[in-house]
Amino acid sequence: MTATDNRKADHPIDAMFIERWSPRAFTNEEIDEKTLLSFFEAARWAPSASNRQPWRFVYARRGTDRFPVLLDTLDEGNQRWAKNAAALLIVISRTHNAAQNGEMRHAYTHAFDTGAAWYSLALQASLAGWHTHGMAGIDRDKAMHALNVPEHYRVEAAVAIGRLADSSTLPDDLRAREIPSQRNPVGEFAFEGQFKGE
Ligand SMILES: Cc1cc2nc3c(=O)[nH]c(=O)nc-3n(C[C@H](O)[C@H](O)[C@H](O)COP(=O)(O)O)c2cc1C
Repeated sequence: MTATDNRKADHPIDAMFIERWSPRAFTNEEIDEKTLLSFFEAARWAPSASNRQPWRFVYARRGTDRFPVLLDTLDEGNQRWAKNAAALLIVISRTHNAAQNGEMRHAYTHAFDTGAAWYSLALQASLAGWHTHGMAGIDRDKAMHALNVPEHYRVEAAVAIGRLADSSTLPDDLRAREIPSQRNPVGEFAFEGQFKGE
């Protein structure tokens, strides 16, 4: 299945936007460091407020001793399928910056900026023939502790990266959901001049 089999854009866009999707069936294949670094390179060039680049990624490749440690920070429902990923990432953002007077100031756009970085990574992975799957289902406190994340950072989400496997490799309930999802039409979220809706 490619995502474009059941996804159609209403307005002309590059196919990469609808070809990226989040499967749960991964092949078990490993990923080399060089490939992974090219995904982080894409994240590197994301825009951010004052160019602060608040994103951080802790990653573990399948076959290394840190892979089970990162896997263990995921909710059980995510571990079921993410265990077959080639790499796991924990996405972290810096929530506070030191002001000139030494006080720590909340970085209003930390999550917005980090979202841009993770999506750049996801698109680059997709362009290279890999798939990513974001996960909010993670034990944040466990991840903070297991990965030694300091104060002034927030664990935002996790990401599984892998090669697409046949959906028959999934348990029945997950197989039924293994289809690229649809989207609301543009008119429901882009408004000319003023906000519409509740
Ligand atoms: C921040 C974030 C958190 C998500 N959390 C989970 C999760 O915990 N478990 C899961 O199976 N999918 C999770 N997803 C996947 C979304 O459900 C998926 O991206 C969405 O349905 C759109 O589908 P697509 O990515 O295939 O286009 C998450 C995605 C994002 C971006």
